Amino acid sequence: MDREVGKIFPPGHFYSPIPNIKEVRRREEKIFRVRTDNEVLGIDLNKEEQLKHLEIIGSYVDLFDYPETPEHNLKCIYYKNNGVFEKLDALAYFAFIIHYRPNRIVEIGSGFSSLIAMDVNKKFYNDKIEIALIEPYPSDYLRRGILFYRNAELIDQPVQDVDLSFFETLEENVISRNNFTPQSTTSRTQTPFQQAAS
Ligand SMILES: C[S@@+](CC[C@H](N)C(=O)[O-])C[C@H]1O[C@@H](n2cnc3c(N)ncnc32)[C@H](O)[C@@H]1O
Repeated sequence: MDREVGKIFPPGHFYSPIPNIKEVRRREEKIFRVRTDNEVLGIDLNKEEQLKHLEIIGSYVDLFDYPETPEHNLKCIYYKNNGVFEKLDALAYFAFIIHYRPNRIVEIGSGFSSLIAMDVNKKFYNDKIEIALIEPYPSDYLRRGILFYRNAELIDQPVQDVDLSFFETLEENVISRNNFTPQSTTSRTQTPFQQAAS
């Protein structure tokens, strides 16, 4: 079978995952050059900002107080050992939301991360953050979280089906990490969430 695939798309062909060794050798100095400046070509790692953010994240560790496993007292729905959005990811999201005090969060692809956003919204913002969760396959725990917190709107569509006007309401100063987009200024036009809330 492997040999058959190799015949159709030989090593180095753009459909083949196998590189053409001759071609790699020809460019080996460029490909394997050890960079002394720790740079990644084409990507600005913005080291100073990253280190600053590491400190910011660290300063919120003590507030990150969630149970390891699901609790039945319903103080919060998020729990750490969820197998999906754990540890540093969750702590970073938690810290950024508190630190940057966004007016709005848009999550494209929602789940355990959304439980963090809704919980922070309740505990630290008195539900003032406008949260939109774009998720075509909402899980039971996400639905449970939305019912529990009642401070987020679920848009149960694939992002590509969401009307573009929804995104046009996003303004400058947008911070984007993975699947959330807080912003520091208010929207020009009302989203469905705002319309429902007013
Ligand atoms: C890796 S999960 C992340 C979920 C959540 N952010 C978390 O960290 O718990 C990716 C999510 O994207 C959702 N998804 C897949 N295709 C999508 C689409 N076209 N538009 C929006 N969400 C989508 C999936 O259903 C899934 O829940």
